[in-house]
Amino acid sequence: MVSHAMDWVTITTDSEDETQALGARIAAVLPLGRVVALHGDLGAGKTVLSRGLARGFGITEPVTSPTFTVVQEYERPGGSWLFHLDMYRIECDDDALAFGIEEFLFAPDAVAVVEWPERIAGLLECPSGGEQPDRVAGRSCVPDLVVVRLSHVAESRREIQLPGVIHDLCGF
Ligand SMILES: Nc1ncnc2c1ncn2[C@@H]1O[C@H](COP(=O)(O)OP(=O)(O)OP(=O)(O)O)[C@@H](O)[C@H]1O
Ligand SMILES: [Mg+2]
Repeated sequence: MVSHAMDWVTITTDSEDETQALGARIAAVLPLGRVVALHGDLGAGKTVLSRGLARGFGITEPVTSPTFTVVQEYERPGGSWLFHLDMYRIECDDDALAFGIEEFLFAPDAVAVVEWPERIAGLLECPSGGEQPDRVAGRSCVPDLVVVRLSHVAESRREIQLPGVIHDLCGF
């Protein structure tokens, strides 16, 4: 089921497999350099969607939650990368900078997927117009951020909001 509101599109999935399949479809339209911010509560399906993105990128190895490792790196066929980050245990922007998050957010040969992006809101959000904060040397903000919001509706049902442009590129 699909509904449009403003420039967001809401997709409802009724199983883990459907969410994973959605991730694979999104992967097909994501150019290198994009950062995908996955918003949603515990169990909303962020890791399942990330696994789907990995499958869509042709990554066959197991994709597990990076909650404890903070970041998992997967090489894609052809030599580019998928970085899967989980900021749940990261308190703030400075903690993320301390572990070198720039390397993952600004890699031109990778797509980075971030669970719990709220933890590093200052690094991901661009103020509208004007000068950007100079938090990361030489970089003002993350280019081409793709925001996805997941929410729990029922035991096996999730609502997943995508930017309309991504939805349309996916060819639904
Ligand atoms: N429609 C659905 N889409 C995705 N996951 C679903 C769906 N229905 C049920 N589930 C279940 O919900 C859980 C989602 O877990 P997942 O690890 O992806 O959540 P998460 O958002 O990454 O949570 P966390 O914040 O703890 O990392 C899985 O156990 C999955 O089987
Ligand atoms: Mg997760």
